Amino acid sequence: MKFLFINGVNLNMTGVREKGVYGTETLDDINRQIAAHFDGDDCEFFQSNIEGEICTAIQAAQADGIILNAGAFTHYSYAIRDAIASVKVPVVEVHMSNVHAREEFRSKSVLSAVCKGVVLGFGKNSYILAAESFKL
Ligand code: DQA
Repeated sequence: MKFLFINGVNLNMTGVREKGVYGTETLDDINRQIAAHFDGDDCEFFQSNIEGEICTAIQAAQADGIILNAGAFTHYSYAIRDAIASVKVPVVEVHMSNVHAREEFRSKSVLSAVCKGVVLGFGKNSYILAAESFKL
C-alpha cells in the first residue's frame, strides 16, 4: 500500500517541545520507525507549518491513505477540512496525545467529520495504528 503521512504545524518540534506530552524522539526518529514497521509498503512523509501547503499536499496525494496529524490546525482549519472533503483518498486523523484529556480547545476538531476515522492518545504508535486501519 501507499501511505502519505502528513504532519502539520509544530510537529517538526517533536522531541524538543513539551517532552512530557510528545516524548523525546524527533519526528525523523518516529518516521524511521514507521517506515520500518511498514517495510514492504510505500511510506511518504511530509511536514509543514504552513496551512496552505498541507492543503496542497492533500490535493496532490497519490496514495491509498493519508495519515494526518494537523497539530493545532486540527482545531480551527476549515481550509484543511475542505481539502480533505475535496479528495477521494481517505484520511485518518491522528494525535499523539489524548486531546480530550487536555485543554478544552483541543477537544474540538473541525477535521474529524470529513475523515474516515480518528486515532489519538497512543503517542508515536497513533500513526502506525492509523495506517494499519487501511489494511483491515
Ligand atoms: C497534537 C494535539 C494538538 O492539540 C496540538 O496542537 C499538536 C499535537 C497531538 O499530536 O497530540 O500540535 O495534534
